[in-house]
Amino acid sequence: MKALAVRPGIAHSSHVAELAPPKLSDVPDDRGVLVRTLQVGVDATDAEIDEALYGAAPPGYEFLVLGHEVFGVVEEVGSEVTHVQPGDLCTCTVRRPGSTVYDQIGRNDITSDEVYFERGINLLHGFLTEKFVDDAEFIVKVPVGLSHLGVLSEPASVCAKGIEQAYLAQSRLQVWEPKRAFVTGAGQIGLLTAMMLRLRGLDVYVLARTRNPGLKEEIANAYGATYVSTLDTSIHELAKQVGKPDLIVEATGNSAIAFECMEVLSLNGALVWTSITGGTHRVEVPTDKINIEWVLGNKLLVGTVNGNRNHFEKGLADLALAEVMYPGVTQRILTHPVHGLENHAEIMRLLTEDKSALKVYVEVADL
Ligand code: BGC
Ligand code: ZN
Repeated sequence: MKALAVRPGIAHSSHVAELAPPKLSDVPDDRGVLVRTLQVGVDATDAEIDEALYGAAPPGYEFLVLGHEVFGVVEEVGSEVTHVQPGDLCTCTVRRPGSTVYDQIGRNDITSDEVYFERGINLLHGFLTEKFVDDAEFIVKVPVGLSHLGVLSEPASVCAKGIEQAYLAQSRLQVWEPKRAFVTGAGQIGLLTAMMLRLRGLDVYVLARTRNPGLKEEIANAYGATYVSTLDTSIHELAKQVGKPDLIVEATGNSAIAFECMEVLSLNGALVWTSITGGTHRVEVPTDKINIEWVLGNKLLVGTVNGNRNHFEKGLADLALAEVMYPGVTQRILTHPVHGLENHAEIMRLLTEDKSALKVYVEVADL
């Protein structure tokens, strides 16, 4: 069976590898779900793994099969599996349990193990292959009416978790009714987060560098958010014009901007960091100013990564609601399909060089 793999530690090593086909019996206790892969989304994480900045092969392998954003169709299930059946559409969570209490209660997304196991990222093969098998616990059903957006299930889970984290943490305030949100970054995470915050009734500003980016601005505006180019209006100017945001979700992939966001958050506000920054950048930060404002303003900073099945279900629910509120908007994110996983060079080129590629995804097979 063919798979798209890299040799972790070796830059630009993407290639087609041969993998033994999975079997239901690979999962103990009749809990296996065998899935035929339809589409797999790729993102900056895959590009960073291909740049050898990130990622590790499973023990006993020299290669790592990529792909952590999967949409597929259930082919076979073990006798203990009740929530999906053959023919159902599905996605699959990314992180697998480690050894901590969080892993034991189904919250492997917040494991406190330093080493974590993520399919297609760290120590476990991913989904960029013809078929895969996993424990029923990690398989999430995708409603038939969302089949055109199924490949966005994983990114949507990351956004749903980020927002959930902010609201959960803000329960410290007893009352928190955020009115205004800034979302920095207009990639898939920025736009899906903007959509989810609009569904919660917030005034949303999407901040990104590019002036008149076309599609990204159209999508943000179609969700009822306001796109702002930071070349025209800095985050500081925007905060002066419209007021400081109660909530900021940072999704630019740029750590300097993550810190800059700290300077404009409102009193009692929440800042959510989602960017994964593999580099070694250093910037100067006005620490006295941030520190005093943070203390006197009771402000919150929370980092968030990954999502468990609950976040996948929340993400799918929001994707469904958005189809009613903003029909046809979300599918415009899916800009760049690539046919077949053997086209790995094209996939990496789109990820790293094509500025118009909002979402690159691989069409592995037809339904
Ligand atoms: C994925 C997450 C994962 C994170 C860190 C992201 O691209 O969406 O599921 O936890 O990378 O590896
Ligand atoms: Zn990802």
